[in-house]
Amino acid sequence: MDRIIYVNGEWLPEPQAKVSVLDRGFLMADAIYEVTCVLDGKLVEYDGHAARLQRSARELGIRVPLDDAGLLAVHREIVARNGLDQGMIYLQLTRGVADRDFAYPPQDTPPTLVLFTQAKNVLENRAAETGISVALLPDLRWGRRDIKTVQLLYPSMAKMEAKARGAEDAWLVEDGHVTEASAASAHIVSAEGALVTRDLSHALLPGITRASVLDLAGRHGIRVEERAFTLDEAKAAREAFITSATNFVVPVTRIDAARIGDGTPGPLTRELRRLYVETRRAAAI
Ligand code: PDD
Repeated sequence: MDRIIYVNGEWLPEPQAKVSVLDRGFLMADAIYEVTCVLDGKLVEYDGHAARLQRSARELGIRVPLDDAGLLAVHREIVARNGLDQGMIYLQLTRGVADRDFAYPPQDTPPTLVLFTQAKNVLENRAAETGISVALLPDLRWGRRDIKTVQLLYPSMAKMEAKARGAEDAWLVEDGHVTEASAASAHIVSAEGALVTRDLSHALLPGITRASVLDLAGRHGIRVEERAFTLDEAKAAREAFITSATNFVVPVTRIDAARIGDGTPGPLTRELRRLYVETRRAAAI
């Protein structure tokens, strides 16, 4: 791919975009990230992603090297430089380069900030039409999943295991309750027609798309229950779906061997996707 990548204030062609092997992101997964969707060359839900980045940085004591205006300007410039119409911006911020040590380096160590773009047809997504199947797997991630870190080995393993079982993704389970998907928030529609999604805690990422969809549901008279739900509830759900920045709302039509609803994307899921794309596309900046 012929991309222009942002590395610590420089705009570089992909082959020249490099980070030190002593970077703590590489050695210790001491890094956080954000994925922001781009539609019509504009940033979708930028404020939410920028706010979550600040929160992750605060929780880990990593310095964000740009102010708010500077960060927005870099996002806009990377879209322009790469002529991106639809896809995503990946941002990674690490604690920087230092001798290998479990203790953090001094506070004045410059952090590493990298951004690149990746094209993806986010509007025409086949999975949105057909739905996906998910396999239930134990959630073996660390205890602070609310921080968006680059420790993505277990989610990758879970995705591979789900594929080996003939499913498209994994729903992760802890203490008999679903936490989230490998890289998305998990939701069900109960037999009573309520949208049920796990309440926020250290157990899951506060999804930006999740918050938006809950807001839309509330505005359209759909009852929302923010609480943990069991595997049995999930398998017996009327509808199920995932949300994330570049998937928006994607139906789940099978959980392990259980068919969800009639095995096709449910009406509420379809309506939430439609509302999400319409409103968040119009509000993109
Ligand atoms: N993943 N939960 C997890 C574990 C995630 O990795 C993600 C996003 C979400 C959804 O968050 P949001 O709605 O803010 O995208 C929930 C991104 C897209 C990724 O890693 O590619």
